[in-house]
Amino acid sequence: MSDFNLPEPSPDPLLDLIGRYRADSRAHKIDLGVGVYRNDKGDTPVLAAVKTAEAILLEQQESKSYLGLTGDTEFVKLLGNLIFSKPGSNEPLSASNKFLSGAQTPGGSGALRVASELFCAIRPSATLWVGVPTWPNHLPLTQAAGLKTQCYDAFCKDTQTILFDAMVKALSTAQSGDGVLIHGCCHNPTGADLSVEQIQTLCQLMNDKGLMPVVDLAYHGLGEGLQQDLQATREIVQQCPHTLIAASCSKNFGLYRDRVGAVFITTGDQKRADNTQAYFGHIARRIYSMPPDHGAATVRLILSDETLKQQWLAELDTMVSRVKALRNAIAKQQPGLDFVSRQRGMFSLLPLNSQQVDSLINDHAVYLAGDGRINIAGCQLDQVEQFCNALSEVGFNGLR
Ligand SMILES: Cc1ncc(COP(=O)(O)O)c(C=O)c1O
Repeated sequence: MSDFNLPEPSPDPLLDLIGRYRADSRAHKIDLGVGVYRNDKGDTPVLAAVKTAEAILLEQQESKSYLGLTGDTEFVKLLGNLIFSKPGSNEPLSASNKFLSGAQTPGGSGALRVASELFCAIRPSATLWVGVPTWPNHLPLTQAAGLKTQCYDAFCKDTQTILFDAMVKALSTAQSGDGVLIHGCCHNPTGADLSVEQIQTLCQLMNDKGLMPVVDLAYHGLGEGLQQDLQATREIVQQCPHTLIAASCSKNFGLYRDRVGAVFITTGDQKRADNTQAYFGHIARRIYSMPPDHGAATVRLILSDETLKQQWLAELDTMVSRVKALRNAIAKQQPGLDFVSRQRGMFSLLPLNSQQVDSLINDHAVYLAGDGRINIAGCQLDQVEQFCNALSEVGFNGLR
């Protein structure tokens, strides 16, 4: 028996959209589909800080021998400091009885996979609660690691509001030991983030019920600015006894294809932190053994050199300013789209039906995901009017 049959994997609609956009010869086409940052020329360039760090790396790197299961430990330490320590405060997390362990991973997706495997090992029969809509890969990725998942409605497209009461109601039925997936900032796909008060209420609920937060942090620096975008994650870490965090450097360092990320857990004692650290390596060994080095080494060089770090922060500020300016321009052009200016990060989820999405693509050359998700960064300031007019022409004038 040498033949075999495989079920055809379901096609990724976003990849299909990329192909259609490329093949479209209309000069006025707009790409709001793909989830990468674009600058005001429509490019996703290598950051200048990254270029410099890569040049240093090329010069200084003497070996490409194996590093270890948890990757570049200095990178993990520097990224951990960036995420968890408020600037100017040299106080380690342990000062508030939180102990951090972490491992480098292949991107944020790798971090989510390792986090899911660790969660399964800690709580074999637990469920991960996932508010929907969410990033389409959350469910397949966490389920592939063996996690049971339970979805609840967390956002109303038609009113563009977070269904916080429904979220609280759903999580009130969770069992002790269950996990709660939380977007650290710049919610993908809605752009609607929980307020500080809502995060505090959620923490209280998770603590009362014995639930563990699993924070997906993929867009820090692209919402309101790096420090503000990290506020919710830091609050959760402070309030909850154990927090799993999956961090990505794909967007904020523009290192998408280099696969840079890290998984962290905060716990209440050093022994458990050490044990978890070893377990991260154990998980990695069974999947990919070791993460790729180049991108993480690049980030390490940036974060360990004050000049390069300031250069990167300035580049990140340029990105966030551009996204915010576009959001404001859209709201100004079409007052019904005012909600866009109150949302954060690259995405918003418009309440469009499939005919409207098809017409935007076919009749107006405006490319967007089938669920109505738009990547604001894909628009140019001088295309905002064309985009809003196209929305009007398909019958969507925003919320009135
Ligand atoms: C919400 C969210 N989490 C995680 C990721 C994973 O990012 P990566 O694996 O490219 O670092 C993405 C990527 O689009 C995302 O949108």
